Amino acid sequence: MKATAGVFALAFFTSALLAGTGQAEVSSRCADCHFAHRRPPSQWHLSEWDHSAHGRANVGCEKCHGGDPTTFESFLAHRGMLSARNPASPVHRANLPRTCGGCHPAAFAAFQKSRHYELLQEGNPDTPTCVTCHGNVGAYLLSPKSLYAECANCHAAGKLAPRSDFPAEGKIMLTSVREVRASLDEAKTLIKRINDKARRDRLELELEDARAPLLAAVQSAHMFVFDQMQDRLFIARKRVDMLMEELANPQPIGK
Ligand code: HEC
Ligand code: HEC
Ligand code: HEC
Ligand code: HEC
Ligand code: HEC
Repeated sequence: MKATAGVFALAFFTSALLAGTGQAEVSSRCADCHFAHRRPPSQWHLSEWDHSAHGRANVGCEKCHGGDPTTFESFLAHRGMLSARNPASPVHRANLPRTCGGCHPAAFAAFQKSRHYELLQEGNPDTPTCVTCHGNVGAYLLSPKSLYAECANCHAAGKLAPRSDFPAEGKIMLTSVREVRASLDEAKTLIKRINDKARRDRLELELEDARAPLLAAVQSAHMFVFDQMQDRLFIARKRVDMLMEELANPQPIGK
């Protein structure tokens, strides 16, 4: 089974290369060679990457690990690459916020304001970094329940930083994000069905107006102090509620 998946992935990369999908970048040779030489434990890492938003968006191995992705020569490809345990490695836990943050600047900016980040910079091994919640290749978004469990690994009675209110707050915030997101999706579907183009265009703008504070809310989540997030979610929810009301009660024609 695994060999088949590897061959499939190789075929995929090769065809992506041949098709020249318009991506200026060379498809990562790191991935091609590593799929051909799968071995534990990194085979899990590989299939996680393959199925992740990063794999789909062609965010190659070198974007996190460094190295030269243009060569099939193992020695050249790995030259200068540091083991994750080396404090100078881009995938060392203390450096991940910066590495990931190169492409996710808003999450990084918020994270830098957190106590977690401060501790990470001090070399504290018991504080979360990006991959604690998103997995080593950034493949996961947590559900409210799993976020609760993640926070409670450290913030619960008898744990290293006992504040059992933190996990509960995290869960409430993320549940709220999910609800607003679901309403936005529903509104989007309803708007698509509207025949009157002027009305559709106007409501689409309103939809974007409601989405913006939601995106901002998710980004401020990375401060882990949720005041700002709560304010943004409140605005997003108010806007989407108004939008749903408008959708339910179309104004008379000729308005
Ligand atoms: C020609 C094949 C090949 C290419 C190209 C290649 N790798 Fe590797 N890589 C391997 C093999 C095989 C190993 C295992 C070496 C060992 O541990 O014996 C390895 C090991 C590694 C390791 C683990 C090193 C450690 O310290 O344990 C990382 C990380 C890695 N490669 C990333 C990359 C990245 C990133 C690229 C592209 C810039 C790349 N590789 C290109 C074959 C390749
Ligand atoms: C989004 C960032 C990211 C991407 C993309 C990524 N990795 Fe990793 N990789 C990591 C992190 C983080 C670790 C864990 C480091 C640790 O053990 O603390 C890791 C660990 C590894 C390891 C274990 C050896 C080591 O250095 O600890 C190998 C081998 C590896 N990656 C290879 C790859 C290959 C091959 C690809 C492309 C198919 C890839 N990675 C893509 C972030 C990434
Ligand atoms: C070279 C740029 C780049 C780097 C480095 C990078 N990402 Fe990403 N990331 C992307 C792109 C592109 C996407 C997919 C498009 C999108 O959703 O914005 C993405 C998506 C994501 C997602 C959303 C996944 C989903 O299912 O919707 C998460 C979470 C994420 N990245 C976390 C990380 C983490 C954690 C790291 C570091 C370990 C990291 N990223 C490093 C470019 C990058
Ligand atoms: C303690 C857990 C935790 C840590 C640590 C964490 N995140 Fe997140 N991240 C979340 C949660 C919760 C969400 C919201 C999930 C959702 O939208 O469903 C999220 C969402 C994201 C997203 C997708 C949404 C967006 O902003 O577009 C990205 C990208 C992301 N995080 C990157 C990062 C990066 C980079 C780091 C490190 C600097 C990081 N995260 C650290 C919990 C965490
Ligand atoms: C890997 C362990 C770990 C995880 C996971 C973790 N934290 Fe923390 N957190 C800590 C440590 C350690 C501190 C520092 C406590 C101190 O300074 O006494 C801290 C501090 C905080 C603080 C700042 C408290 C203050 O007094 O300034 C908040 C808020 C917080 N965490 C919320 C969260 C939330 C919410 C989650 C889940 C999304 C979470 N944490 C996940 C370890 C963790």
